[in-house]
Amino acid sequence: MTSYQSAKEEIKSTADIVELIGQYVQLRKAGRNHVGLCPFHAEKEPSFTVSPERHTFHCFGCKKGGDIFSFWMEYHGSTFPEALRDLAERYNVTISEGFSQAAEKEKAAKRQNLYKINEKAAAYFQEALKDPAKGQAARDYFKKRSIPGEIVSEFRLGYAPDEWEGLVKDLKDHNADLDGAVEAGVIIPGKKRGYYDRFRGRIIFPIFDLRRGERVVGFGGRVLDESLPKYLNTPETPIFHKGRSLYGLHSGHKAIREKGRAVVVEGYMDLLALRRHGLGEVVATLGTALTSDHIRKIKGIAREAVVVFDPDEAGVGAVLKSLPIFLNEGLRARAVELPGDHDPDSFVNAEGLDRFLELLDQAPPIFDYYLEKRLAQRDSDVEGKVHALKEILPVLSALRSSTQRSLYVRRLAEKTGVREEALLSELRTLDKNPSQRGVGRGLKERVLDPQTGKSYGDLQLLNLLVHHPDAVSRLMECGSTILISDPTVTQIVEALFQEYRKNVTVSPENLEDSLESEAACIKLREVLIGRSYYSEGEVEQAVREIERKAYQKRLSESLKMAKGDIEGLNKLLKLKAQGPLRS
Ligand code: CTP
Ligand code: MN
Repeated sequence: MTSYQSAKEEIKSTADIVELIGQYVQLRKAGRNHVGLCPFHAEKEPSFTVSPERHTFHCFGCKKGGDIFSFWMEYHGSTFPEALRDLAERYNVTISEGFSQAAEKEKAAKRQNLYKINEKAAAYFQEALKDPAKGQAARDYFKKRSIPGEIVSEFRLGYAPDEWEGLVKDLKDHNADLDGAVEAGVIIPGKKRGYYDRFRGRIIFPIFDLRRGERVVGFGGRVLDESLPKYLNTPETPIFHKGRSLYGLHSGHKAIREKGRAVVVEGYMDLLALRRHGLGEVVATLGTALTSDHIRKIKGIAREAVVVFDPDEAGVGAVLKSLPIFLNEGLRARAVELPGDHDPDSFVNAEGLDRFLELLDQAPPIFDYYLEKRLAQRDSDVEGKVHALKEILPVLSALRSSTQRSLYVRRLAEKTGVREEALLSELRTLDKNPSQRGVGRGLKERVLDPQTGKSYGDLQLLNLLVHHPDAVSRLMECGSTILISDPTVTQIVEALFQEYRKNVTVSPENLEDSLESEAACIKLREVLIGRSYYSEGEVEQAVREIERKAYQKRLSESLKMAKGDIEGLNKLLKLKAQGPLRS
């Protein structure tokens, strides 16, 4: 075993997969497994399954799955070496160097370098804010916006002085990699030569990754006056994607889990103001519309979201646009509209947190809010209703839960005055033409009935091998692979036998690494996570049956071959002499 493999094993045996995944996905116990809503695709019925016995997770909907490392890589968008390092750190396992393939290593090193540069830049901005002369205007600005020192240090707020080469010079002084800094987006190459600072004369909000609030993935910078552009952000980089970031999630994570809800606002300042007033469970979208990425991150840790966007047209538009995404993702959501021209920042500073909490409590479900807005917007005329229905019906048609569907249809009928029956018939038309729908697939194709499914014979064998390791040697010796019709099953069974030949034991949960196709990995996980078809008392009979079938099949194949062939005939006689059972 190479050193990284042993580190991997050690981490796997230390980590509690339910506890680890449970920090990102709400899981509930279901028999031997734990289930929850999949963080990797839109769903409303939990098909995301975690098996503590097998140290494995698997989503029966989107088929993603694997061990804790696969989860970490998928969830955080990281490479294997990064996942290994993160988890090793978390579980106090030491890993020796030299574990990864060159390409992956390079990718990870590159990202690592970007984090490092961002860290240097963040430190520079923080220092500049403290600078007695240079930082004065920015400190005054924070004071004016009621941002106290504790928030400044907690969020590592800073200041980019109004200089062309402030950060450039600082990076040079520290012998930093300037090309890397260009890639991190903090400096920009000059037209002719040299580099200049991206952020100039702006207060700086470092944006952290979700994983561990220590890593800076990017920055937002605000001017101190009313000049434009008001905000400037790090461009898209390998570690920063604006549409996926939720500002404040790293520090709000715990409160969100505890309260079971996330309050979603638009801006940096909104978030900081609410935090200052003591609201922990808040995140900000950085001005972009809510994406399913955002919502998946939230739904893993909260039961509901309350969106509080600015009451301007853009803000209301963003709330309306988010409805289909919430419905598709199956996260309950409510919407708050602030009075007057307030945004959350100005509201909480003027009226206090209690008033804000009252508004949160009174907030209507986002569906109702949507209908109010859509129907009011068009003066409730026929045109307006048709428009709203055209937009909302495909969304409802995509809902998997029929109870939810009929509930919404009823409310839609109430609000629009269109008869429920007419809406339902409209929905049925949409159902027949699913190309108009975003999501919504039945469960049928993802569960293979062990009694009637056509690859039952294959699964019977695989199920025995995986759940009853004692039977492996007999099933191997009787040549049971001859019975398999599905090549992915053959792949798994052969990998398993090979492992057995090498070690005289098998641990099917560690077999994924030796499987070539993704399809085989998926199939293996589904058997691993599922239950045994046989009780201990039935195993013997099942093995005998397979032995007998394998024997018969070889016999009949040999018979075919033996027609007019002496050698084949001999083979056949030998087989017959052996008989079906070896023991
Ligand atoms: N934003 C941005 N780029 C812009 C404008 C806005 O990235 N040119 C993002 C910022 O994350 C900002 C959020 O959208 O925080 C909301 O924008 P806005 O409501 O205009 O700003 P506020 O957060 O209210 O900022 P302030 O109170 O300082 O005016
Ligand atoms: Mn504001």
